[in-house]
Amino acid sequence: TAHRIAVIPGDGIGTEVVPAGLEALQATADRFGLRLHLDTFGFASAAYWQRHGTMLPADWEQTLRGYDAIYFGAVGWPAVVPDHVSLWGSLLQFRRTFDQYVNLRPCRLMPGVRSPLAGREPGDIDFVVVRENTEGEYSSVGGRVFEGTDRETVLQETIMTRVGVDRVLRYAFDLAARRPARHLTSATKSNGISISMPYWDERVAATAGRYPGVRLDKYHIDALAAQFVLHPDRFDVVVASNLFGDILSDLGPACTGTLGIAPSANINPERDHPSLFEPVHGSAPDIAGKGIANPVGQIWCGSMMLEHLGHPEAAAHLLGAVEDVLALGPRGAPLTPDLHGTGTTAELGHAIAERVRER
Ligand code: NAI
Ligand code: MG
Repeated sequence: TAHRIAVIPGDGIGTEVVPAGLEALQATADRFGLRLHLDTFGFASAAYWQRHGTMLPADWEQTLRGYDAIYFGAVGWPAVVPDHVSLWGSLLQFRRTFDQYVNLRPCRLMPGVRSPLAGREPGDIDFVVVRENTEGEYSSVGGRVFEGTDRETVLQETIMTRVGVDRVLRYAFDLAARRPARHLTSATKSNGISISMPYWDERVAATAGRYPGVRLDKYHIDALAAQFVLHPDRFDVVVASNLFGDILSDLGPACTGTLGIAPSANINPERDHPSLFEPVHGSAPDIAGKGIANPVGQIWCGSMMLEHLGHPEAAAHLLGAVEDVLALGPRGAPLTPDLHGTGTTAELGHAIAERVRER
């Protein structure tokens, strides 16, 4: 059977890295005898907004609901649409409507990529941040009173539900249990945030009882941020609330070199709805149109998507091809300028697709 994939390139370099990502994905599918049915959509872009005044068509949910996965580039073009409009009008609609409650961001120091942390080698950094993606600190419950007076007061609530907390924790424990290190770290701040974070800790402890094989520890978020920089080798799977996870999942990839290689997945683990795979980076207006964007983040997303679709061997093969090509360095492979090479998006994409075919 074929997997049905909705492809949404979006804006800026999204439209440049998606074709490179698809080339490597298709090469992998061919190699493993998988059939992919790809449909490309132009919505969730500034161009669509200019024509229609909205980011998405009214029937977007019916349109996307029938797909097994969404392969997404990047959205945002501040010269045409304000960022909060483009983001809330597209990506956040997908995440919430499709209940993609796990945001998964692998942080791995790849061969041939220089870490900004001194002395770190590939193999030292290889962890995954699991971020709660639908509730927590990012709620719209709150408001302002006495606006413009001395008594001006602003309030915004954190929402934690048992279902919401437990399901992301279960996902993180399951993931940790499947990895060789079987180590889960929970991000908390129960010393300062004295109601919601102790609840988080309590649910972590309650869930841990069902995973005796997983080594569990917890850090306050401030100490954890420092540990990411000082001892990134100590982590395997890290689970965090929406806000803490957001921060950690930018800090993690920053420790592993360029933003251009970092992938992410917005997952609905029950598969009631399509999951969405997108690089961490945005549309990069500063380099858009030059053909020099690094396609590795987008290509790595293809590997995560194959894994989610139930093809772990194909996923590992594709990621292995990425590692092989990066390891050749800027002299041996057409690496893009952010990796100190002079290659183009298309050249690096071809090189990785070629490697998929021959390895
Ligand atoms: P950005 O990620 O687009 O760019 C940040 C810096 O990293 C820029 O200097 C850019 O040239 C560089 N960079 C990013 N991706 C690269 C790649 N693949 N290869 C080489 N260099 C790369 O973030 P920025 O500039 O803050 O945002 C630009 C637009 O993208 C905004 O409209 C923003 O809202 C949107 N955005 C969208 C995201 C998404 O679709 N999930 C995520 C982040 C930003
Ligand atoms: Mg962020």
